[in-house]
Amino acid sequence: MTDFIKTNWAKTEFSQNYLEKADIYIVERRRMFSILRSFVSHFLSSSGNKRLLDLGCGDGILTEELLQVDGSLSATLLDGSDDMLAKARRRLVKFGEFRYVKASFQELLEKDFLAEKYDLAVSSMAIHHLTLNEKVMLFNKIRALLKDGGYFVNIDVVLPPTEALDQWYMKLWQEWMDNKKSSLGLEDEPSENIIKRYKDLGENRPDTLEDQLRALNELGFSEVDCFYKYGIFTIFGGKR
Ligand SMILES: C[S@@+](CC[C@H](N)C(=O)[O-])C[C@H]1O[C@@H](n2cnc3c(N)ncnc32)[C@H](O)[C@@H]1O
Repeated sequence: MTDFIKTNWAKTEFSQNYLEKADIYIVERRRMFSILRSFVSHFLSSSGNKRLLDLGCGDGILTEELLQVDGSLSATLLDGSDDMLAKARRRLVKFGEFRYVKASFQELLEKDFLAEKYDLAVSSMAIHHLTLNEKVMLFNKIRALLKDGGYFVNIDVVLPPTEALDQWYMKLWQEWMDNKKSSLGLEDEPSENIIKRYKDLGENRPDTLEDQLRALNELGFSEVDCFYKYGIFTIFGGKR
């Protein structure tokens, strides 16, 4: 099983670089957050105290986005990195008290330290580090952690189904990064290098959208769909 401590995310300089450049690296990141906010305000009534689980929370940006839709959310944020959790705490302190859990997805699969049931489980740009088998086990665990009627929404990169589509999606990605950098007037390493690094890094293990949607359906989720897609960047999920 993938060992979090051996990944780049366990290194401060790697995670810091991601946090500084995420709006450049991730195509339409802010739009994806706004689609997630819309999803939540449409499907989860803000009455009552709703429980949110943010998996691979990083610096807590996704939870912050959702607190803007429903300030009464009680959130549990999980990440394998102490450093990221400390940043999430700092970001969210103004919203109140939340639960911060230092654990890898692998530990979450092995142990039952989350006793609560959640109305919503979200994740952004984290689950693609798992193998397909691990992803399926995690989706199953998420289903078990959701209340009946609860939702899982995952923002993540996926594997293109063919080589031809892969080539086009990489071009789309490169164009996005080049435009973003020039609009910010930013000198940065060439976008081709960023794409090459993403592809070469063994810890990036994207699987096709089709495989992941099938897995959600087979695990018994309903309302399974891709809610947004731009090249390899997607939002997908379902309802328990
Ligand atoms: C690309 S960052 C995304 C952070 C945040 N969700 C966002 O959208 O900005 C990936 C996050 O997932 C965490 N992560 C990666 N693999 C993990 C694993 N196996 N278990 C737990 N956390 C993991 C990393 O520490 C990092 O904070």
